[in-house]
Amino acid sequence: MPPSTNKPVLLSGRAHKPFAQKVAKELGLSLGKASIQTFSDQEVKVEIEEELRGKDVYLIQPTSMPVGETLMELLLLAHAAKGLKPKRITAVMPFIGYRRQEKVTRPGEALAFELVAKLLAAAGVKRILTIDLHKHRSSKFFRDAGISCKELRAFSVIVHYFKTKKKLDNFVVLAPDKGSVPESERYARELGVPLVKVSKRRSRRKLDEVSFHRFEGNVKGKNVLIIDDEINTAGTLIGVAEMLKERKARNIYFACTHAVLSGPAVQRLSKSRLKEVVVTDTIFLPPKKRIPKINVLSVAPLFADAIEKWHRQA
Ligand code: R5P
Repeated sequence: MPPSTNKPVLLSGRAHKPFAQKVAKELGLSLGKASIQTFSDQEVKVEIEEELRGKDVYLIQPTSMPVGETLMELLLLAHAAKGLKPKRITAVMPFIGYRRQEKVTRPGEALAFELVAKLLAAAGVKRILTIDLHKHRSSKFFRDAGISCKELRAFSVIVHYFKTKKKLDNFVVLAPDKGSVPESERYARELGVPLVKVSKRRSRRKLDEVSFHRFEGNVKGKNVLIIDDEINTAGTLIGVAEMLKERKARNIYFACTHAVLSGPAVQRLSKSRLKEVVVTDTIFLPPKKRIPKINVLSVAPLFADAIEKWHRQA
């Protein structure tokens, strides 16, 4: 990092302080001081206790569950920082809530992700550093709102893990839906194993319910690595695992970037025949969600590296 006067200031919200601390440690910095409190009626009060005038400021906060609260907290942090006249505000968002609502499929639906981008811009955010958006094209909403966006990929971290920790000779990679095919193809290519595809449909009435049709490829006697961008209720994963059981697959592994793990997810995973669930640390996992089959890899070094590079160019 450059001499002290030119150092970036890193501030963290309350959604995932251990991640912010890891990023700061990688950069040889400490987190700046901010007091964040919640009133009895759930309003949040933010007060930044750092000199920010002319500084390059990074606000670290995944807007994970409870999405509305973590987002509002980040917006307040940005707004408070803006008032202190920094050189620029970057939101470091390892996970962005509302990321899956990036298109309108019927008239009358809200384009939630576009609104999130506009809110961040209104609060004073000029740049976003994130990882594995639901669709890579989603970064367009930030650009349209006047925010530059850098999207990292967990690919290298997850590939490294499987290459170094597993014998891959009897593996296939499985893409659980149409959207995950390009990324799964990349994994299959890099790991040197075949790709299997499944098609998924999400119910319109029950948003978290999925059904499967069409299965392309052979899994009999194979170890299967399922790749997705996130695990939310684990409905997709459990559904695919059931199909794999019927088709006599051997061990089932799952890897994704974002461990949302909402509702019945952890219980479903505990009861499932999945061998291992590999996720990254973009979202804070409370102890009750850290069951033995969940293995968390850190992407904090990727974020630290990107901040260092971005800051140098500034
Ligand atoms: C959907 O498009 C995503 O890529 C994931 O497949 C989905 O969010 C997983 O959700 P769930 O775990 O609730 O099935």
